[in-house]
Amino acid sequence: MTEFESSAKWAAGRLGQSAVRVRVPAKVNLALRVARRGEDGFHQLATVFQAVELFDQVTAQRRSDTKIQVRTSGLHADRVADDHTNLAVRAAAALRDRFGTPDLGVSLSIEKSIPVAGGMAGGSADAAGALLACSTLWQLSVSNDELYELGAELGSDIPFALLGGTALGLGRGTDVTPVLTGENYYWVLALSHRGLSTPSVYQHFDQLVGQALLSPSDVNDPSLSKPVIDALTSGQATQLAAVLVNDLQEPACQLRPELREVLAAGTRAGALAGIVSGSGPSCAFLCASPASSQQLAASLAELEQVSSTLCVRAPASGAQLWAR
Ligand code: C5P
Repeated sequence: MTEFESSAKWAAGRLGQSAVRVRVPAKVNLALRVARRGEDGFHQLATVFQAVELFDQVTAQRRSDTKIQVRTSGLHADRVADDHTNLAVRAAAALRDRFGTPDLGVSLSIEKSIPVAGGMAGGSADAAGALLACSTLWQLSVSNDELYELGAELGSDIPFALLGGTALGLGRGTDVTPVLTGENYYWVLALSHRGLSTPSVYQHFDQLVGQALLSPSDVNDPSLSKPVIDALTSGQATQLAAVLVNDLQEPACQLRPELREVLAAGTRAGALAGIVSGSGPSCAFLCASPASSQQLAASLAELEQVSSTLCVRAPASGAQLWAR
């Protein structure tokens, strides 16, 4: 990072002398293709991420001691750990260990809007936010590539949370490349009353593959993501709707059968298409216009299986300093 970039970064998100605020988006996967589990315990993926305009805010406040503490407010805040197991705390600690000095401390405040355990990478968003906020607060000399690399070590969705927009994700999902999209897309998110654990959905995927009830995808086939990328290039939401795909949808629906009803209700009520977001249980519905997304959100909010609905535009920017 140049000196100019570093001081511009510092000025943009500075709150008084001693705090920095960052906002970080949620994501949906337009395509999520999953291979067999590898020796490292992870699945190789070919995925297309899209960041949506639903943001968590992470504020990093300077401390005079060396503690790293977190407090969370907002949606599902009571479900988030407030100790050293919190991914944002782990991210701040890892950043200090690698690029900082032992005398640094920080108080992190996370204002959540992204559902917890909802398949929208909320935990990764908060960790990405902590990386950007703390590197700015502590004025560390760390490049974007170094932040991405550290993020990838901490969680598979963190590099994309830093990048935002629309991107192809390979490897564990950590090798991200931006994909150009000319258009805005309008999504309705239908949230669930209870979260779903990502490892349990991957485990169920493995069981279905083991029983030959599901085929793993050949994620090394470079043409696998082509239909989604072509649809994004066309800018036509109807074309994108026709090619949305998620290999984790079947295992997620088997663990939560009510998701099938939510998906069916969404398409009956006018969505171009509906899909389980990541490992679920949030469902994402692509709509033709802002007006149709409002109608769909109202209709889905009536379902007993749905805790709340949100209308969001996409793509959104990745983690960025945010002075408000
Ligand atoms: O990387 P992250 O901590 O988000 O992953 C959570 C869990 O999801 C992993 O422990 C693993 O069980 C599963 N996972 C996977 N393959 C990936 C990403 C996640 O098996 N590419």
